[in-house]
Amino acid sequence: MAPCPKPLAVILAAGLGTRMRSSTAKVLHPLCGRPMVGWVAAAAQAAGCDVAAVVHHQEDRVRAALPGVPCARQHQPRGTGDAVRAALDLLPASGTVIVLPGDAPLIRPAMLEALLEGHGDALCTVLSTVVVRPAAYGRIVRQEGRVVGIVEASEATPEQLAITEVNAGIYAFEAAWLRDVVLPSLEPHPPKGEYYITDAVALAAAAGRLNATCLDDAASLAGINDRTALARFEDVLQDRILEEHSEAGVTLHRPGTIRVEVGVCIGQDAVLEPGVILVGDTCIGVGASIGAYSVLRDTVVAAGAVVKPHSVLEGAQVGPGAQVGPFSHLRPGAEIGRGCKVGNFVEIKKSTLAEGVKASHLSYIGDATIGAGTNVGAGTITCNYDGYGKHRTIIGSDVLIGSNTSLVAPVTVGDGALLGAGSTITAYVPPDALAIGRARQVTFTDGGRTLREQFQARALEAKAAGSSGSDPGDGGQS
Ligand code: UD1
Ligand code: CA
Repeated sequence: MAPCPKPLAVILAAGLGTRMRSSTAKVLHPLCGRPMVGWVAAAAQAAGCDVAAVVHHQEDRVRAALPGVPCARQHQPRGTGDAVRAALDLLPASGTVIVLPGDAPLIRPAMLEALLEGHGDALCTVLSTVVVRPAAYGRIVRQEGRVVGIVEASEATPEQLAITEVNAGIYAFEAAWLRDVVLPSLEPHPPKGEYYITDAVALAAAAGRLNATCLDDAASLAGINDRTALARFEDVLQDRILEEHSEAGVTLHRPGTIRVEVGVCIGQDAVLEPGVILVGDTCIGVGASIGAYSVLRDTVVAAGAVVKPHSVLEGAQVGPGAQVGPFSHLRPGAEIGRGCKVGNFVEIKKSTLAEGVKASHLSYIGDATIGAGTNVGAGTITCNYDGYGKHRTIIGSDVLIGSNTSLVAPVTVGDGALLGAGSTITAYVPPDALAIGRARQVTFTDGGRTLREQFQARALEAKAAGSSGSDPGDGGQS
């Protein structure tokens, strides 16, 4: 027996969504790091469906937001029925087709599974739900309990407007019936001349083969129309994401303040403190801890590493057991090795720190390679830019870099070397050498006292001159 083909879920995503007041098509607006339409596609895939979409506005971007999903172009958006017709070439000859809107990102896979389960050998099954304020939803019209059709709010009688059972805009169809009977028979509705896919419901009812599945989680079936709903729905998805991590063994302190995008992976026993933001392609290892108000984008933090509060990491890698922060800034290409320590106000980009390197305070490390066990003194700067190009600084292992050292790249320092504090290093330092690049100290005995007395005398003179009429606001230092 041939394997049963998967149902095809067709996502209607051709609309612009004017109430978003945006130059970006509604279905492209991101929620927790995934475009709205991507959430719908993910739910359909999780429910075991193949996915296709109908596109029009910002077609190329919508296609790009749905990688691997075949898309049909609706030449002019003329209603949901016209949109399904635009997908005709993508529809299978037999089996089941689900139609769903691209702007309902809270739809749960289980709801689509319930739709498919209830569908059986009906021609059409419609998902409905009961809401307190049905507003612009299509109303489910029943006679003697049986659904006979859907009427849009704009065409409804006052009695029909009072109906609180509404059309979720999600349907299952017998593919052949949809292709051969429904789509050719749809008629435009005045005054706009739009074609409604909802007309299929009355057709199936007339044929005696309509199902209606009424679900009670109305909130998960709702569509987004404006930015207020966008923000509200993002909160819901964020809660779901955090709940999943929580169930998988991640500790979340004040989850209401934490933002974790979809696709971020977090290992068991990791800890996220309040205000943490994890976005993009970020991965947090087992038992790692991310301190309060740290922002990580496209960053990998290995097992047991600690990122202390207020750190910003982008495109960085933090090795096992390393410590970063507080107030560290790791930029793209920062690779922090096992057990390293990167402290406050240290900025690192495109640099590799081997195991156990310490850079604890106030440094800029750019385009550098630093060998194992090296200590980078407070205030060390790699001068990687000469105004035209970037150059590399190569530092061996077990090097001691004195505080406030500048390394003028390109420059290389051998293993075990020692750089005197305050040095400006411009030339090769061989292994185990001591290099000092600064002016030698000069001390004048009693010179401090002499100068201080001069300064005091000058200040007294100035004060006397000031009390006899000069501008008091000229602000000398005291
Ligand atoms: C539709 C239903 C309504 C239901 C509601 C649920 C119709 C006629 N009405 O109304 O009964 O309660 O959904 O949300 O179907 N789209 C296209 N091409 C078009 C028109 C729409 O792709 O030409 C897409 C939109 O981008 C959107 C989806 O179809 O994702 C729904 O369209 P929308 O205009 O929002 O339909 P509603 O008026 O909400
Ligand atoms: Ca809508």
